[in-house]
Amino acid sequence: MSIPAQATSANVHPATAVRSVPPGAEPPIMRVEGLRRDYVQPSDFIDFIGRKLRGRGKPPPVQAVMGVDLDIRHGEVLAVVGESGCGKTTLGRMLTGIIPPTGGRVFYKGRDIAQLSGAARREYDLAVQMIFQDPFSSLNPRLRVGDIIGEAPMVHGLVSRAERDDYVCELLRKVGLDPDYRERYPHQFSGGQRQRVGVARALALKPSIIVCDEAVAALDVSIQAQVLNLFMELRRDFDLTYVFISHNLGVVSHISDRVAIMYLGRVVELADTEEIFARANHPYTQALLKELPVLSAGKRRFDPIAGELPSPANPPAGCAFHPRCPMAMAKCRAERPELREIAPAHWSACHLNEVADSARIAAGTPVAGTGEPATSTEIA
Ligand SMILES: Nc1ncnc2c1ncn2[C@@H]1O[C@H](COP(=O)(O)OP(=O)(O)OP(=O)(O)O)[C@@H](O)[C@H]1O
Ligand code: SF4
Ligand SMILES: [Mg+2]
Repeated sequence: MSIPAQATSANVHPATAVRSVPPGAEPPIMRVEGLRRDYVQPSDFIDFIGRKLRGRGKPPPVQAVMGVDLDIRHGEVLAVVGESGCGKTTLGRMLTGIIPPTGGRVFYKGRDIAQLSGAARREYDLAVQMIFQDPFSSLNPRLRVGDIIGEAPMVHGLVSRAERDDYVCELLRKVGLDPDYRERYPHQFSGGQRQRVGVARALALKPSIIVCDEAVAALDVSIQAQVLNLFMELRRDFDLTYVFISHNLGVVSHISDRVAIMYLGRVVELADTEEIFARANHPYTQALLKELPVLSAGKRRFDPIAGELPSPANPPAGCAFHPRCPMAMAKCRAERPELREIAPAHWSACHLNEVADSARIAAGTPVAGTGEPATSTEIA
């Protein structure tokens, strides 16, 4: 069976037109196009001398995010899942404007954030907030919780000094904490309570989008469930959109509407959560699902993915997953697969789908994502 040289123009994900929002639906609240972020690797004096002696130049940059295209729909919970080091936090930080991209663009409500200034930039800065994994290190230990939550909204003119105390009390109630706790310092709370303080601090700025970066990973399982429930209640009450970053597909299965799977700086699969769990397409997603512990009567299984995530300073040629992929073919080592729509609203970047398309062409059945019968000229 021959493998087509290129995917069809109808189902290849173009850098400039992200199609995760169905035609006619509300435009995405946020969109990223070709987003990239490189980090220059620090080089100390000894490393510098060593490189000079070996005739090597500067160390290559770490390519933490290598070209991500995504739409974020108003009101959804979009989970971003992948192994440690695949670029999730870097992506989240670029969405919130904490770090600038080294390439590509971020649009908020249709406007390129790099072009925003004055009141429009301020609106974006307040509208997109981030909640971090470790609530202890992200809360200033020297400030009382009342100040941690109440200071920023006052500085930004969302509440007056006279209104501040009532505003803080209301937010503490919303996140399930006693308003009297506003006099306490962060070290006087449990981990779950501190995370609730972090949530109240983010909510205080009346955001539209909250990027939760491993926001429950540091909590024990029962507290995780409480905080996840809180996120869902707040989503309803405050009309929020979440980008929920996690390394754990099991956690996101309970709360996300869609899942973007990241591998070495790229999105390799994107689909509704149910679809990901029912019909995972990418071998990496399938491996992540297998990795979820199964604990049932008489059966205990844990299948970790073989091998390590390659270095983003020296990514493998072709498909970055090929050194670990049990299905890898010769083409996988030479050519990077594009993200293609393999079924309605289900995107995957794997050469195996081209093989599957070839088989469908041979049988005269529709090519995935198009609904149209395929011809060999469409794929050529
Ligand atoms: N400030 C930095 N300078 C240099 N390299 C960085 C910096 N921040 C992140 N990196 C590198 O970029 C890559 C992606 O990092 P990132 O923190 O985005 O991953 P992650 O998916 O959030 O991982 P984790 O699940 O462990 O939090 C990693 O290889 C990391 O070492
Ligand atoms: S493109 Fe090849 S190596 Fe990459 S996931 Fe698909 S089969 Fe595996
Ligand atoms: Mg991270």
